[in-house]
Amino acid sequence: MRLSVFALVCLFLTACATREKGRERISFNKEWRFALTEKQANASAPDTDDSNWRVLNLPHDWSIEADFSLDNPATPGGGALPGGMGWYRKHFKLSESDKGKVIYIDFDGVYRNSRVWLNVGFRPNGYVSFRYDLTPYLNYGKEENVLVVQADNSDQPNSRWYSGSGIYRNVWLVKTGQVHVDNWGTNITTPVMNADKSTVEIETTLKNEASDVTVEVSTLIQDKEGKTLYRISSPVEIAAGGKKTVTHTIEMFYPELWSVRNPYLYTAITEVRVGNKLTDRYRTTFGIRKFDWDEHTGFSLNGEPTKILGVCLHHDLGCLGSAVNPRALERQLQMMKDMGANAVRTSHNPPAPELLDICDRIGLLVQDEAFDMWRKRKSPYDYAQYFDEWHEKDLTDQVLRDRNHPSVFMWSIGNEVLEQWQHADADTLSLEAASLILNAGHPVDDKILSDTAMSVQGLIAHSLAAIVKRLDKTRPVTAANNEATPGNLIFRSNALDVLGFNYHEKNYEPFPQNFPGKTLIVSESTSALMTRGYYQMPSDSMYVWPNTWRERFDRPEHLCSAYDNCHVPWGSTHEVTWREVKRLPYVSGMFIWTGFDYLGEPTPYWWPSRSSFFGIVDLAGIPKDVYYMYQSEWTDTPVLHLFPHWNWKKGGTVDVWAYYNQADEVELFLNGESLGVKSKPDDAFHVCWRVPFTPGTLKAVSRKDGKEVLTREIRTAGEPARIMLIPDRSALHADGTDLSFVTVEIQDKDGNLVPYADNLLRFTVEGDGFIAGTDNGDQNDPVSLKKPERHAFYGKAMAVVQNTGKAGTIRLKATAEGLPDAIVEIKVGE
Ligand code: GAL
Repeated sequence: MRLSVFALVCLFLTACATREKGRERISFNKEWRFALTEKQANASAPDTDDSNWRVLNLPHDWSIEADFSLDNPATPGGGALPGGMGWYRKHFKLSESDKGKVIYIDFDGVYRNSRVWLNVGFRPNGYVSFRYDLTPYLNYGKEENVLVVQADNSDQPNSRWYSGSGIYRNVWLVKTGQVHVDNWGTNITTPVMNADKSTVEIETTLKNEASDVTVEVSTLIQDKEGKTLYRISSPVEIAAGGKKTVTHTIEMFYPELWSVRNPYLYTAITEVRVGNKLTDRYRTTFGIRKFDWDEHTGFSLNGEPTKILGVCLHHDLGCLGSAVNPRALERQLQMMKDMGANAVRTSHNPPAPELLDICDRIGLLVQDEAFDMWRKRKSPYDYAQYFDEWHEKDLTDQVLRDRNHPSVFMWSIGNEVLEQWQHADADTLSLEAASLILNAGHPVDDKILSDTAMSVQGLIAHSLAAIVKRLDKTRPVTAANNEATPGNLIFRSNALDVLGFNYHEKNYEPFPQNFPGKTLIVSESTSALMTRGYYQMPSDSMYVWPNTWRERFDRPEHLCSAYDNCHVPWGSTHEVTWREVKRLPYVSGMFIWTGFDYLGEPTPYWWPSRSSFFGIVDLAGIPKDVYYMYQSEWTDTPVLHLFPHWNWKKGGTVDVWAYYNQADEVELFLNGESLGVKSKPDDAFHVCWRVPFTPGTLKAVSRKDGKEVLTREIRTAGEPARIMLIPDRSALHADGTDLSFVTVEIQDKDGNLVPYADNLLRFTVEGDGFIAGTDNGDQNDPVSLKKPERHAFYGKAMAVVQNTGKAGTIRLKATAEGLPDAIVEIKVGE
């Protein structure tokens, strides 16, 4: 009896607490049933028998589970993994107490052509987030609901890189009261920003699913400790079924500014009350900062001139595929930040919302990109076919979703779209006809239509920019262009606030003459090619591969040299482009192609290559040497990076490079004998010695004013003798998603990395975890990245361990023939 009274009290308290919250946002990732089949009869019918379907948790990417194969129609360009049609079904019940609430389902992203049943909805774009209102279709109490999602990625190829397939981002069930903040319904801006006083404007759009009502809307501003600093309320009348926008203006005194060095975040809490009843409570994180762009001095953040030191990132997470995982994302972004990057470009699509949350929190600027193509397609089944019908909705949703993130500092409306040029098969559309297709409901400015130099291509750029500007007047619009001349139809249309150049580093210097009064961002640069651990000498010979982008190129070894001496003909080495960006003050910055290797686009090769060579970090997440060039240039972290390894054939010569900073010189020793002191010439970023090879110890010493700063040693390694497991973190949260990235090294008996070791490693896990994926950074490894075994590649591999959601211990074991087993323990805490 006593027990049940206690239980009743608890129940009552929980119910109150839930009601007080006004809004519930529940992760809807658990226990979906999945089938990969085109011929699934009636998969969308609620009573279909799915009892023998596979049970899994989202986010899920089915493509990454397969072996790589040339037979997959995505081609190596798309990652050589299968597409197909996937069905997901989720059975769920709602309690009687949910009756009367408004219940939404939010998908952060489904690749692609998703159809959702209960409410029927179709969304072709695989990268946008979308919501459906489930309220009219739901059962409460004992009767269950079945939500069915079809993801149709069977039309291939549809992407120039690996997309992944399925419900690869998070899903949420959102419950609110009848009057609530609309989807992405807040818009927070700082029209006046001064160190002593800033004006913060919070525009909130409310939705009323009930009868005519007057509500009390409050906005609370909290600091990062959760202390309420400001509060403002006002009554609002909203008609039945209607929407209303209310603006609150708050003067904040001596606000903490958001910057890349101090990413200070405030939270705005919107409370909606009908009488005394809280019907919604909605949180928006924001930051106070301002940007300026100047044609002479480039970009500044909060008044401080800041070169944009950025990287382009695709959305896959290596061996996890495209299934989003916040820890994997955080690790990638933190590695870029530790390298000194202060920005990322989400090439070439809207990112997972978690990426923006992390960038807000750790201080990275984001160029948030919308499209890789407009009306002209780049691959047979890509988004171009949906552009006319969907671009307005997709771009609108992107801006609404992302505009409160302080990290987002510019919008890119497209990457290298083919509309930069007039084609032989030029659009036969007239401007008027195009304007009707593109701007249904939003007539184009007469001035634009009467501009005799305006093209249909330019008009598209204007339409897209106008969509952005209607929703966000605070950030510039750019587009990434590989036609870096004034003839580019998009530049000619004057639709862009900041001009984006891809590559063409020789066009940076004449930019002020070619584009008077304009500002320049290098939206994409470099495209140097590297395989971690492989070195082609002499290091001052340049390997420019492939000969042209149209030509298939091949070499037996399918590798690219990790000295910075290999790049595509439209790009450059890392050093060449960085030199230009650094030298010219009006170049506001650059985004290097790319921060990490990614699946697909194995330029310069084709099958059996299946992932890119462009990354500063390999696909497994292990830095290539050039990572330390950037770190030496972009951070205050003392750097002395010596490479390559010291296992070569006797009698040959080896080019020894060092990246360094905070020192005047570096001296190199081989087996105790000096090979000379070197200093970087003014415009160089490394020093090099050409050394006749003798086994032994290579040692570098960096010095400033004659005083030693750092030393590095590399020894000739002996035979493989042991496996070293080096986890990036040995304590995880028991949340079911947290990861440990365990670097695996094959070492000799003295602990030296064996640079040519390729031992086959087998991994097993005991305890409260599982292997989420394995990799080694080899662009040519055909084995599925989900397989718990992997050859070491140039002595290294990676095993990614995920917790199951239970507190305890994970024991990862690695075995390889002829070597002692290695075990590492990872704690999983509540
Ligand atoms: C660019 C393109 C990128 C990638 C890169 C490879 O032209 O924007 O998506 O393909 O080339 O160099």
